[in-house]
Amino acid sequence: MADHDVDRAESPGPAAVDSLRWEERPEGPVLVLLDQRRLPAQEVELVCTDVPALVDAIRTLAVRGAPLLGMAGAYGVALAAARGFDVDESAELLARARPTAVNLAYGVRRAQRAYRDAMSGEADARQAAAAALAEARALHREDARASASMARHGLALLEELLPGGGYRLLTHCNTGGLVSGGRGTAFAVVGAAHDKGELRRLWVDETRPLLQGARLTAYEAARAGMAYTLLTDNAAGSLFASGEVDAVLIGADRIAADGSVANKVGSYPLAVLARYHHVPFIVVAPASTVDLATPDGAAIEVEQRPGHEVTDFAAPAIPEAGAGAATGVPVAPLGTQAYNPAFDVTPPELVTAIVTENGVVSPVTGAGLAELCAPPGRG
Ligand code: MRU
Repeated sequence: MADHDVDRAESPGPAAVDSLRWEERPEGPVLVLLDQRRLPAQEVELVCTDVPALVDAIRTLAVRGAPLLGMAGAYGVALAAARGFDVDESAELLARARPTAVNLAYGVRRAQRAYRDAMSGEADARQAAAAALAEARALHREDARASASMARHGLALLEELLPGGGYRLLTHCNTGGLVSGGRGTAFAVVGAAHDKGELRRLWVDETRPLLQGARLTAYEAARAGMAYTLLTDNAAGSLFASGEVDAVLIGADRIAADGSVANKVGSYPLAVLARYHHVPFIVVAPASTVDLATPDGAAIEVEQRPGHEVTDFAAPAIPEAGAGAATGVPVAPLGTQAYNPAFDVTPPELVTAIVTENGVVSPVTGAGLAELCAPPGRG
C-alpha cells in the first residue's frame, strides 16, 4: 500500500472510487480530484496545484459532501505548505469556501494546527509541511474507519427497528464512497444491508437542483449492483403514502449540540413525511460532523446558492464555463428570481436516531450527543 493510500479492507463492495488523492509530481505536489460535476457521464480528474483552484472546486461542487470536504480542506493546507504559500491565509480561504458543512473547517484547522505545532518546535518549513500532510492522511484513514463503524452500527439499528430484512430504504443527496475515505455514511449502511442480502430496494431522490441523487447516488448504487429506483423529490410523498418506504437514511453536513441536523435541502420535508407515516428517519454522520459549539438549528449557517441552479435545469458550473456561470437548460422566464438554499435543518424531535462511528443516539438529545461525540477531555 503506497503511503497515500487508505485501507478500504473493511469496506467490501465494488472497486472504491478515488475521489481525492495526493500525488508527488516532478513539478511539485498536486491534489487530484474526481470531478463530481461531470459524473456520471464522464470520469474526469481535476488537478489542483494551488489553493484558489481547490476553493473553486469546492464552491462549484467538483469536490463535495461533508467528510470529503474535511479531507479536501486538510490536504489543501498541506498543498499550500508544500508549495510555499502562506498557510494561514490559505487556511482561511479554504475554511470559508462553503459555510454549512462543519467538516471543512474541521479538516482545515487540524492540518493548520499540525503545521503550526511543527513550526513552533524544531521543524523547518519543509518538515512542517510534511506534518500537515501526515495530518491530512490521518484524517483520510480515520474517515475510512469511521465509515466501516457507522455501517456496522447503522445496520444493527435497522435490524433492531425492522426485524426480518427486506428493507426498502429511501435516501437523499449523495453519501457514498464519493464523499468518503471509505464507503460513506448513510450509503455505507445501505451497502452493509445490501451485502447481507437485506436490501430489497433503494429509493433514490434525484435531489434538485444539482441532482446529486440522480447523478451520483444512482451511479454508486449501480456500481454496487443494488436494486434501486430513482424518483423526483416530490414523488416521495406518494411513495410513503403507499407504504413503500421502511426507513429513511440520510447524511448530515452539521449537527448542532441540540441534535438539529443540517443536510441537503429536501431532507426536512422527508423527516416530516416520515413522522406522519411512522417511518424511522435515521441520520448517519461521523462524530466530526457533530458541532457542539453550534447550540441549535437556528445557529447553523445555511449556504445560499446562485439562482441559475434553479432557473436552469441540471446546471452545475463546469470548468470551462467558469464558476457561477449558467450551463444548464433554461426553464424559467429570463430574470426570474430563485430561492436556492443548499441545505435545510431538521429539528431533533423528527430524527429517530443519529448513528456515528461511536454508536447510536436515540432518542436524539443534546446530552446523548455530547456523551457520544465530545472530544476526550472536553464537555
Ligand atoms: O452540497 P453537497 O453536495 O456538498 O451536499 C452534500 C450533502 O448534503 C450530504 O448529504 C452530506 O454532506 C452528507 S455526505 C456524507
